[in-house]
Amino acid sequence: MKLTVILLALVLQVFSLENGLMRTPPMGWLAWERYRCNINCEEDPDNCINERLFMDMADRLANDGWRDLGYNYINIDDCWMAPNRDEDGRLMADPKRFPSGIKALADYVHSLGLKLGIYEDMGNKTCMGYPGTTVDDVVLDAETFASWEVDMLKLDGCYSSAIDRAQGYPGMADALNATGRPIAYSCSWPAYDGGLPPLVNYTLLTEICNLWRNYDDIEDSWQSVLSIVDWYTKNQDILQPVAGPGHWNDPDMLLIGNFGLSFEQAKAQMALWTILAAPLFMSTDLRTISPQNVDILQNKLMIKINQDPLGIQGRRVLKTKHEIEVFVRPLSNNTSAIVFFSRRTDMPYRYKTTLGSLNFTDSASYEVQDVYTGNIISGLTPDTRFTVIINPSGVVMWYLYPIPDLAEKQLPEL
Ligand code: GLA
Repeated sequence: MKLTVILLALVLQVFSLENGLMRTPPMGWLAWERYRCNINCEEDPDNCINERLFMDMADRLANDGWRDLGYNYINIDDCWMAPNRDEDGRLMADPKRFPSGIKALADYVHSLGLKLGIYEDMGNKTCMGYPGTTVDDVVLDAETFASWEVDMLKLDGCYSSAIDRAQGYPGMADALNATGRPIAYSCSWPAYDGGLPPLVNYTLLTEICNLWRNYDDIEDSWQSVLSIVDWYTKNQDILQPVAGPGHWNDPDMLLIGNFGLSFEQAKAQMALWTILAAPLFMSTDLRTISPQNVDILQNKLMIKINQDPLGIQGRRVLKTKHEIEVFVRPLSNNTSAIVFFSRRTDMPYRYKTTLGSLNFTDSASYEVQDVYTGNIISGLTPDTRFTVIINPSGVVMWYLYPIPDLAEKQLPEL
């Protein structure tokens, strides 16, 4: 009886985030994929989870052009905490590795025009065993994060039950709202419930979370990228409609700049994440990243497409028997992005098609710009047969815009 009343009260409560944040997919840097839970600062001082790492990366974001292109979040992941809460039950940063504390780090990050993200887990402990938050802790923890002037929270779901999550994720949304500080909210809730309805309620998620992880962790390999793309594509009828301004599917971090992807694969991950309207969180060493990888991540047209204000997630529109797939994302002002993606492992493939067969049928003439080479191709009609040469495990990406009919342009003014 008591349980029924509690559950009913939860269902009736109107949860809503309404923080107005992330009208376009967030961009920035997140520690986890590259730096994991490396707390060995004695032997590996430059690559361990400590305040210096975040200050170094913040410096790079601010000084190497990233911030000005939109990469403005610098986000802490697991392993920042002390092993226990303080005597008042508050979360504490590890005193050795974060001697100045999170508030000081937030001040530093803000002084560079950046935002700070932090990590917690809606369970008994974080995935790496640090203090978690429970339904009873969420108010205090949200207040703590707000008092530190944190700008984003990733709330993981290790060591939680389905009931903990069903109460805790909406509870934290309310608690964040109640602080009065705009704190973007990344929920790993769906990833812990299989990522799909009926266990996952995407209507609720779009109301309480700014982004959500719904599938496995990315690892530093092409295989991992492919498995994420496969899952997103297989479930695109469910996932595509739920993304939009303020609420995004998160296929996890970009691997670009690390060890597992070839140059072509790195370009492919960037293009595919952009077509999916995905958050762009790098997780790489910005102190040593190569110019080639910087070029991929700082491609202005790519970022413009990723950040398109309509915020429509793209879809795979076709797959050929020759292992070519085509993805299309509708953009504002009647423009679109197209990704031609090859899963082949032999040689550059000459893919022949027409815009008409990719559902571009309603205008006389289109112009396209290749997002990576900058080359422009004009005068494509829906029936023009063209060839794109796609490298193995690579992409060709186009930005496409209709050219108004010449006849229309020459109409005399009345
Ligand atoms: C989970 C998350 C990862 C990362 C780790 C940290 O696996 O999915 O993104 O946050 O926990 O322990």
